[in-house]
Amino acid sequence: MPLPARGERFGYFRQRTMLHSALLNVMVKAARQAGRALKRDFGEVEQLQVSLKGPANFVTAADRKAEDILRGELAKARPGYGFLGEEGGRHAGSDSTHLWIVDPLDGTTNFLHGIPQFAISIALEREGAIVAGLIYNPANDEMFLAERGKGAFLNDKRLRVAGRRRLHDSVVACGLPHFGRGDLELGRKEIAAVQEHVAGLRRFGSAALDLAWIAAGRFDGYWERHLSPWDMAAGIVIVREAGGYVSDLDGKDAMLTTGDIIAGNETIHRELLRVLQKVRKA
Ligand code: IPD
Ligand code: CA
Ligand code: CA
Repeated sequence: MPLPARGERFGYFRQRTMLHSALLNVMVKAARQAGRALKRDFGEVEQLQVSLKGPANFVTAADRKAEDILRGELAKARPGYGFLGEEGGRHAGSDSTHLWIVDPLDGTTNFLHGIPQFAISIALEREGAIVAGLIYNPANDEMFLAERGKGAFLNDKRLRVAGRRRLHDSVVACGLPHFGRGDLELGRKEIAAVQEHVAGLRRFGSAALDLAWIAAGRFDGYWERHLSPWDMAAGIVIVREAGGYVSDLDGKDAMLTTGDIIAGNETIHRELLRVLQKVRKA
């Protein structure tokens, strides 16, 4: 039996298809516009693959262009809000209670290599809490959306996390430790330990989509270390609104400050966290 979404468990609503709020309309419009530019550039990258120079500089430009479009569109609709983007950093707004947290292109390495697993990620933080999230993959036109208390949706269809109860039946996504970033040895030990307990381990290369896919029930669990707020802010609200559990690797709610994250349904989140914490204590 799939787990009921959190909103449903508490009887807040019964809606199956999505009614967009004004806020979500603003986010969707910005994402579609930036997505069109990214998709065009992705087509170019596929051509550039065969050239000697390679597409790296081109991708950096595509990334910046997408962020400029997002910042411009979001500012047009909500002029006072602050903006934190991966490329351009933080810009304070006149309204200090609202902050957009944006990754214009999550999965850059995939994009660069012509792999269609990349996304735009937009979250809105209100008084320190993430209240809305959007993750959009322009390559296959999948748009994941959530607003706090209103459920999570994929292209307007209601989402629910997978209902699997045993780690042994689960497909789990992860990040791979980078050289020079964090504790490589610990990362390797964690991967080895989780491998023993799960049906399959996956590394897809976009943290935002890894979280969106947890919400969609495609992955049962996910963990990663050393992320930035723009990699996960939108995904956190989308997973929670799909009835999932998200925490940092101490089981607390400090993902955006620690950079560590673990997600799944209630049971898989708990079991996976237990395996990972055992590695750290060993
Ligand atoms: C990266 C992706 C990747 C994760 C990296 C991130 P980027 O973001 O989300 O899955 O493992 O840690 O930096 O650089 O492609 O925006
Ligand atoms: Ca990213
Ligand atoms: Ca990025």
